[in-house]
Amino acid sequence: MTSRITINTLYDMKSKGEKIVSLTAYDYPFAKIADESGVHVILVGDSVGMVVQGDAHTLAVTMDEMVYHTRIVARAAQHAMVVADMPFMSYQTSVGTALANAGRFLKEAGAAAVKLEGGATVCSTIKAMTDVGIPVQAHIGLLPQSVHQMGGYRVQRDAERLLSDARSVEAAGAFSVVLEGIPADIAREITLALSIPTIGIGAGSHCDGQILVMHDILGMTDRRLPKFVKQYASLRLQAAEGIKAYVQDVQNNAFPTETHSY
Ligand code: KIV
Repeated sequence: MTSRITINTLYDMKSKGEKIVSLTAYDYPFAKIADESGVHVILVGDSVGMVVQGDAHTLAVTMDEMVYHTRIVARAAQHAMVVADMPFMSYQTSVGTALANAGRFLKEAGAAAVKLEGGATVCSTIKAMTDVGIPVQAHIGLLPQSVHQMGGYRVQRDAERLLSDARSVEAAGAFSVVLEGIPADIAREITLALSIPTIGIGAGSHCDGQILVMHDILGMTDRRLPKFVKQYASLRLQAAEGIKAYVQDVQNNAFPTETHSY
């Protein structure tokens, strides 16, 4: 794969029934691996707050932190489309603030699009962004930034509301919508109803694509993984083995040897 993925590529993939693969990344080396491994869309998620910063939620992540992570991910991605996640309170206070913050991701960080959480309530913001040429990925269902409002990370089952939110964000101009933590049959109904691609996370197999958190699929975290995650590697264990071996070598005078010396 050589050409750059754009929103048109994603529309095309939906129309051909080709699955869109999305994954989070937060730094240069892992973004490069994702890009070279065929991931179509790299999301610089505000999940950075949990899997990199060690917080219990995503609420404390700042715009400056997201711009920093997006810039180093965008530097690595030669093929994948890079989407920057708008952190909590960077788009909720006014449309003007939302536009200014979204603009930073494209101007300063090299993202091709932004993502924000919410359905009908954020449609005026989505419209304002797309009107000035900022592609927006919407995110409905379980909204991690509303964890306190939802009373925890809970599967969302109100089919009527979910479908209406999905239709609203599409009408407002979103190029895609993440469906998080919703039953598979509702995600299927939404996917069939929309002309823009749906990207599922904990939303079953009928979405146009899937997204997961890099640290979860590679086994880099010690947090309990949600049911919807499939773990494909155990990097945390491998890293611990490597570091323990280094500690032992230094303590036993097995490193450095002549070969590592000048
Ligand atoms: O922040 C994030 O990583 C996300 C997804 C996994 C959808 O919003």
